[in-house]
Amino acid sequence: MNYQWYPGHMTKAKRMMQENIKLVDLIIELVDARIPLSSRNPDIDELGRNKARIILLNKADLADGRMNKKWLHYFQEKGIYALEVNAKSGEGIKQIQGLVQEACKEKIERNRKRGIVNRPIRAMVVGIPNVGKSTFINSFTGKACTKTGNKPGVTKGKQWIRLNKSLELLDTPGILWPKFEDQEVGRNLAIIGSINDEIIVKEELACDLITILQGSYPDALVKRYEISGSLSSADTLTAIAINRKCCGKGEEPDLLKASMLIIDDFRSGRLGRITLEELV
Ligand code: G4P
Repeated sequence: MNYQWYPGHMTKAKRMMQENIKLVDLIIELVDARIPLSSRNPDIDELGRNKARIILLNKADLADGRMNKKWLHYFQEKGIYALEVNAKSGEGIKQIQGLVQEACKEKIERNRKRGIVNRPIRAMVVGIPNVGKSTFINSFTGKACTKTGNKPGVTKGKQWIRLNKSLELLDTPGILWPKFEDQEVGRNLAIIGSINDEIIVKEELACDLITILQGSYPDALVKRYEISGSLSSADTLTAIAINRKCCGKGEEPDLLKASMLIIDDFRSGRLGRITLEELV
């Protein structure tokens, strides 16, 4: 299956981000801890080339804890500030403020020398669709935040969120990029639910997921669906359909239903904590 999804609103959103980038000191980029590389948008890398960066490995609770540590180390080795977070429970969120100060310390020092104190750090929050950006913003800002009005030069309609006197956030829409050069990236994005499900052939995606799990987490499917671990991906899907009573008319196994079941079980963590992208 050829995974590509770049609807028009994303072009518009990217333009908004390009227009606003000069106003920010820092980019806070949310990635999905289960696919830390595939969920990084190369356009944002380009856009934020000269900006301080923080990467938040969100949905860390759904990813393999051991792999989270490895990925954190990977980014930190590259000189990028990184943190594991669970935007849903709020875990890790408290540490972000300190990291923002650390990531922007040069800027803060430069400002101080120029006599500019009390100027808040401005951060653009970016991430692909479904990475948990809204959940993160809600969790990070809590109820204490106030939305400030539009600033000059900022695309109309975009709101800044004032967190406190030292930090302002600019929320941006979740965007992908026009072409996935590597189809594995597209597949990974489809598995975690960042590509519109309506354009996905679910049976194919489920078989791809089964193949990955059989390679990296061989017990996950066996344990949850009580099936043999030695079947092909297609036979595994059929076995899951039979065991879970996903049947169509005439008791035929309903592979579409079984595909949606396994994809949904993965996305919601019912198959366990799984990282799809290994660090080699
Ligand atoms: P977006 O703005 O980036 O598109 O993502 P959004 O916050 O809407 O989050 C997408 C889904 O991911 C939501 O689930 C949300 O609850 C879940 N989510 C966000 N962060 C985390 C996290 O760190 N861990 C886990 N386990 N889930 C997270 P949903 O099923 O669409 O909604 P809901 O039923 O949870 O409300």
